[in-house]
Amino acid sequence: MLKSQYINDIISKAKKLNKTIVLPEGEDERVLKAAHICSDEKIAKIIILGDKKSIQDYFAKEGWSMDNITVIQPETSEHLGEYSDLLYNLRKEKGLSKEEADKLALNYNYFGTLMIKSGHADGMVSGANHSTADTVRPALQIIKSARKDRGVSSLFIVVCNGKSYYLSDCAININPSAKELADIAVESAETVMQLGDEPRIAMLSYSTYGSGKGESVNKVKEATDIAKAILASDEYKKFNIKLDGELQADASLDKVVAKKKAPTSEVAGQANTLIFPNIDAGNIGCKLLQRLGNAELYGPMLQGLNAPVNDLSRGCFAEDIVGLIALTALQSTHQ
Ligand SMILES: CC(C)(COP(=O)(O)OP(=O)(O)OC[C@H]1O[C@@H](n2cnc3c(N)ncnc32)[C@H](O)[C@@H]1OP(=O)(O)O)[C@@H](O)C(=O)NCCC(=O)NCCS
Repeated sequence: MLKSQYINDIISKAKKLNKTIVLPEGEDERVLKAAHICSDEKIAKIIILGDKKSIQDYFAKEGWSMDNITVIQPETSEHLGEYSDLLYNLRKEKGLSKEEADKLALNYNYFGTLMIKSGHADGMVSGANHSTADTVRPALQIIKSARKDRGVSSLFIVVCNGKSYYLSDCAININPSAKELADIAVESAETVMQLGDEPRIAMLSYSTYGSGKGESVNKVKEATDIAKAILASDEYKKFNIKLDGELQADASLDKVVAKKKAPTSEVAGQANTLIFPNIDAGNIGCKLLQRLGNAELYGPMLQGLNAPVNDLSRGCFAEDIVGLIALTALQSTHQ
C-alpha cells in the first residue's frame, strides 16, 4: 500500500500501541479513507469529527466497517461544555471571554486539541483542509511546549531512494535565532531517537567550515556551538547524537564532497538529519524533494509539545495520512 519500508515499519510499531488518534476533518474523503485503512489494519483507534450521518453513509456506500472508529459531532457532543470551560480557564488570562471560548470550542481543530488535553485522545492529525497556522495554533495555545526553555518546532520525514532523512524546521519557526536553531537541532535529535534512528545532524548553510561569509553563516556557526554544548551536557551525553556545522547540503550528504570540504567531520557525508537556517530554505527544500526528487514526505510533525498534534499538507493522499497517524501514535508514547 505505502511505498517505503521505512513507513511500513513505523506502521508495524504503531499497531502494537493501540493509540487513539482524532481526525477533525471528517468532511474530507481522504481522511475517511485513511480512517478506514487504520481501523481495518488496526493501526490505531480513530475518532473522526464531523457529521455523523454523512460519515456513516459514506462508510456504508464504500462497504467499510466502522469497527474501531468513533464519530463525534462537536455541536452535539456531551463534552462540549466541559471543553469550552477548559479552554476558557486556560486562556482567560490571555483575554479570552467565555463567549469566545464557547465559539472556539466548536472549531474542530480546537475541539480535537481539547480532547487531547482532556485525555480523550492521544494525538491529532489535521491539515488536509487547513493551513499549518490554523492546525497548530490550538496546540501551541492549549497543549503547549513540553519545556519552558525550548519552543515547538517541526520535522518532516523524507524517504528518498529507500533512505530516510529528517528535515527541520520547515513549518513553524520563520527565522529562528541561533539559540532557537540550536534548540530545533536538539529537539530533532530527540524525535529521530523516538523514531528508532540515530541522529547525525548537519547544521545547513551555503558555507562549509568557513568557505562562505555572511550573517546567516555566523548564525549557523553560533547555533552549532550552542547545540554542541547542549549535547555535551549530562542530559544528552549518554546518547549517540552526532552534530556538526556549518555544512552545505552536498557536504552533508555526499561522501566524496565531504572528503574535500570537511574531511575531519564525523557527520559530513553521512548526515540523516538536516537543520535548515530558516523556514524559507526548509520549506522550499522539502517541496523540491517531493516534486522533483519523487520523495515520500511525512509531516510536518510537531516536536516539543506535551502531546502530539501533526499537520498534513493540503495536497496529501490518504496513504500520507495513514503514515502520519502511525507516526503520531509513536510520538504519543514519548510525551
Ligand atoms: C506557528 C505560528 C502559526 C504561530 O503564530 P501565531 O498563531 O501568530 O502565534 P502567536 O505568536 O500569536 O502565538 C500564539 C501562541 O503560540 C505560542 N507559540 C508561537 N510559536 C511558538 C513556538 N514556536 N513554540 C512554542 N509556542 C509558540 C505563543 O507563545 C502563543 O502562546 P500564548 O498565546 O499562550 O502566549 C506562526 O509562527 C506561523 O505562521 N508559522 C509559519 C507557518 C507556516 O506558514 N508554515 C509553512 C507551511 S508548512
